[in-house]
Amino acid sequence: MRVSLSNSDRSFSVAPRQSVLEAALDAGINLPHSCKGGNCGACRGRLISGEVHYANGRPLGLADSEVREGFILLCQAHARSDLSVEIVEISSAGNAASKRLPSRIERLEPLAHDVLQLFLRLPAAESFDFQPGQYIDIILPAGRRRSFSIASPPHDSRFLELHVRRVPGGEFTEPLFSADARSALLTIEGPLGHFVYRSDSTAPMLLVGGGTGLAPLKSILRHVLENALNREMILYWGVRSEEDLYAHAELVDLAGRSMNFRYEPVLSEPGAGWTGARGWVHDAVLRDIPLEAFEIYASGPPAMIAAVRETFPRHGADPGRMLFDSFDYAPDSLARQRKTAANES
Ligand SMILES: Cc1cc2nc3c(=O)[nH]c(=O)nc-3n(C[C@H](O)[C@H](O)[C@H](O)COP(=O)(O)OP(=O)(O)OC[C@H]3O[C@@H](n4cnc5c(N)ncnc54)[C@H](O)[C@@H]3O)c2cc1C
Ligand code: FES
Repeated sequence: MRVSLSNSDRSFSVAPRQSVLEAALDAGINLPHSCKGGNCGACRGRLISGEVHYANGRPLGLADSEVREGFILLCQAHARSDLSVEIVEISSAGNAASKRLPSRIERLEPLAHDVLQLFLRLPAAESFDFQPGQYIDIILPAGRRRSFSIASPPHDSRFLELHVRRVPGGEFTEPLFSADARSALLTIEGPLGHFVYRSDSTAPMLLVGGGTGLAPLKSILRHVLENALNREMILYWGVRSEEDLYAHAELVDLAGRSMNFRYEPVLSEPGAGWTGARGWVHDAVLRDIPLEAFEIYASGPPAMIAAVRETFPRHGADPGRMLFDSFDYAPDSLARQRKTAANES
């Protein structure tokens, strides 16, 4: 079956087992995407003709109104016929072409009981241009991928900084916590993703992060502050308890040094002595902030992204100025989880 892009002369073939997005990427056609799990909505396109189906039911990232308007999510959609789809191909992520490179774990520091800070060294002869907010894929055997956001800003190009949360039973993250991985060689691909700082806007920015969802926001924050760009920023960072606030001192320090940056930590299960904001991070934002004026960047667990996506527009946020980075598990892990769940039921 073939898929043609209605707003260009590009087309590609798709096999029944492949998602439309996978087929496009395999054909070297760079369509917008991020989570690849049906949550972030970045791969949304309009189906002009043809029929698709979703193997796992309608994805969470597609609202009823969008279905009625003919939108589909390409990372989950499988073709039942030839398709014509309206979606804008991007020549590359931002201005920089994505590439596959060897890298070495230069440093590895515990940030919290379940978060490691990884510094990757790239080959000295290679340039690696990225935009604040983008991520890389770490390539595992058989081409499987694990995505991690870049926490350092583009101007600090010595190493790529990652914040890696331990996933119990996780093929990539679990061994990092149990064995000494310093100096290990990794193959990475990047930069990837469209969750990037919008340099063409002057609107105040609301950054909402959950857990290691702080990573791409930190890249954006440091980019704006260290290049003395005149943007107002408010960061709401939600974690479970005090011990999870792994970048608290650094963020307090940044906020103390800039009139343009305010930082609000939010704990869902604080200790008795906590005097700051409590509850879910998106609820704390809704309690405190009139959203109309803001450009909103939200990154972190899929449940947090779903809550922001659903509630913020009802409180005045402009959906056209909301960007999401949903930290889903990799497509191969989600497929194995579903298979295991189906076998058990
Ligand atoms: C764009 C993007 C950016 C991201 N950025 C970050 C970041 O900056 N920091 C960060 O910490 N995370 C980030 N993530 C999330 C991160 O990619 C995942 O947590 C990571 O893929 C976990 O990899 P893993 O190999 O350790 O776990 P996996 O091996 O993928 O396992 C995931 C889960 O599936 C379970 N599982 C696997 N196989 C089975 C099976 N057969 N049956 C039942 N369960 C099974 C595992 O036990 C585990 O709980 C990001 C995700 C995306 C999409
Ligand atoms: S990439 Fe398809 S919903 Fe996120």
